[in-house]
Amino acid sequence: MPKTPDYFAGKTIIITGAASGIGRATALIFAREHANVVCADINEAGARDAAAAVNDKGSQALALKADVTKRAEVEGLVKRAVDTFGSVQFLFNSAGAAIRRAKFLEIDDALMQKTFDLNVNGTFYGMQAALPHMLKNKFGVIVNMASMAHRRGGPGSSVHYAAAKGAVVSMTMGVAREYATQGIRALSISPGPIQTPFQDAAGSSPELVQRFLDDIPMKRFGKPEEIGELVLFLCSDACPFMTADTVYVNGGGGWR
Ligand SMILES: NC(=O)c1ccc[n+]([C@@H]2O[C@H](COP(=O)([O-])OP(=O)(O)OC[C@H]3O[C@@H](n4cnc5c(N)ncnc54)[C@H](O)[C@@H]3O)[C@@H](O)[C@H]2O)c1
Repeated sequence: MPKTPDYFAGKTIIITGAASGIGRATALIFAREHANVVCADINEAGARDAAAAVNDKGSQALALKADVTKRAEVEGLVKRAVDTFGSVQFLFNSAGAAIRRAKFLEIDDALMQKTFDLNVNGTFYGMQAALPHMLKNKFGVIVNMASMAHRRGGPGSSVHYAAAKGAVVSMTMGVAREYATQGIRALSISPGPIQTPFQDAAGSSPELVQRFLDDIPMKRFGKPEEIGELVLFLCSDACPFMTADTVYVNGGGGWR
């Protein structure tokens, strides 16, 4: 929660991947705090639906179709957000996916490329598009979605994804440290498994999902809202000395 009541009222967040899962849950949490929410997703209908849910909570929303793997679309998204709301204070790069599960020797060039295009380039384009605006205002918080996988390496199913999320963690740290004296903070979040359509999208087998569950001391998946509340905290005035790091949220899950 913010330290100052109404801290988020009238401020604007851009959320990529807002049509589903963690992005959508975060959109609704920022709506609860009366922020303006830009709901961006490659899934246009889903983005519209999330924006309508933000409106239902009494906050302003803008639904935009954007493919984060296309630099021009991400630049257009930030421009539309600034034109609509005057300024943008927060960026949450949630769009991402493991694409599909594969053993290391079965990862082909196309899978590696697709995984990096979405998780790494999508985040890279988002930060490069939003930062000039934030620097002009001498204020901005960027939260990027990494994963616990970056710490575990994804053996047996997702080395491609773990490596991409490792790049997100490093890139976030570099940006945070480069702009640390200019009013910019950047952080990443590294969740363990969260209950969203993500596992289905990656084609995770029931055995793999059970293995994830067995590894978590709390014996449950996280809820998307449990990540959204952290995004809110990280963007708030409650943690102005926090930047560069990745924050683990995993029900006690270990590092194996
Ligand atoms: N769910 C988990 O277990 C988990 C764990 C760790 C990290 N993550 C990360 O959290 C983030 C959100 O995942 P989620 O669990 O909410 O999954 P999700 O599948 O529910 O949501 C992902 C959203 O990203 C959108 N998207 C996909 N490709 C896109 C593109 N090219 N451009 C714009 N939008 C695009 C999808 O349409 C979808 O709405 C991802 O970066 C994921 O890697 C998820």
